[in-house]
Amino acid sequence: MTTTPARLRSASGAGPRAAISEKTLRTDRWWLQPLLVFLGLGAFVVYGLVRAIMNNYYWADAEHYLAPFYSPCLTQSCVEGSSHFLGQPIPQLPSWISPAMIILVLPGGFRLTCYYYRKAYYRSFWLSPPACAVPDGHKTYSGETRFPLIFQNIHRYFFYAAILVGSVLTYDAVIAWHGKDGGIGMGLGTLILAVNAVLIWAYTLGCHSCRNIIGGRLKHFSKHPVRYRAWGFVSKLNAKHQQFAWASLFSVIIADAYVMAVSAGWITDFRFFN
Ligand code: FES
Repeated sequence: MTTTPARLRSASGAGPRAAISEKTLRTDRWWLQPLLVFLGLGAFVVYGLVRAIMNNYYWADAEHYLAPFYSPCLTQSCVEGSSHFLGQPIPQLPSWISPAMIILVLPGGFRLTCYYYRKAYYRSFWLSPPACAVPDGHKTYSGETRFPLIFQNIHRYFFYAAILVGSVLTYDAVIAWHGKDGGIGMGLGTLILAVNAVLIWAYTLGCHSCRNIIGGRLKHFSKHPVRYRAWGFVSKLNAKHQQFAWASLFSVIIADAYVMAVSAGWITDFRFFN
């Protein structure tokens, strides 16, 4: 079939699409959401890079606050007091490699391959497409069938790693109940780390892979009442996955920045008691 103005092939080759001279017929501000996502994710990446390179100010000793970007601190390069139940199984690192660079692979990979974030950055960074009813920024489209995007399939394995990360951040929130003079105490950092752990769990358990692991491959929910209830709970979180993706992204930055500021002595932790 010859291509005529009235009959063009779609970018995927799946079928004809209408020949419209305008790039899009949308007249609303369709570009605003991808732009905001671009700025938000871009800011997070820049912050993460700066923190990973900084290699300092991640442990506030008096308050027992550990910055999430450096948790767990697993190398012999970690500052005294910052390595907890997992110890320091990794030897001393060269000065240009920080402990954060090792551990951020897991939560970073989890978010990078997340179904929601994929949609977000495919639209805002790759314009593929930037919005519904707006043309793709590329001439060809191969989906996630080829290298490197075929590796997005490993998301389900990152989910298991994310369970470990959530557990470690929960542990960090528990040890943050530490009094500056010993015993139990609570500061603003304790609250921030606790809220961060809750939001990280809400994001992690709302994962599509988690929902499939809990409720998938069952023929009869009636024969698995516990899994059914768990699936119902996870499904509620899943329905808000986008919101929890953003909330936990902000909370982890706030928690990390707060601990950095306390650790560096830029601010004094506000104490509720002890
Ligand atoms: Fe988003 Fe799994 S789909 S974390």
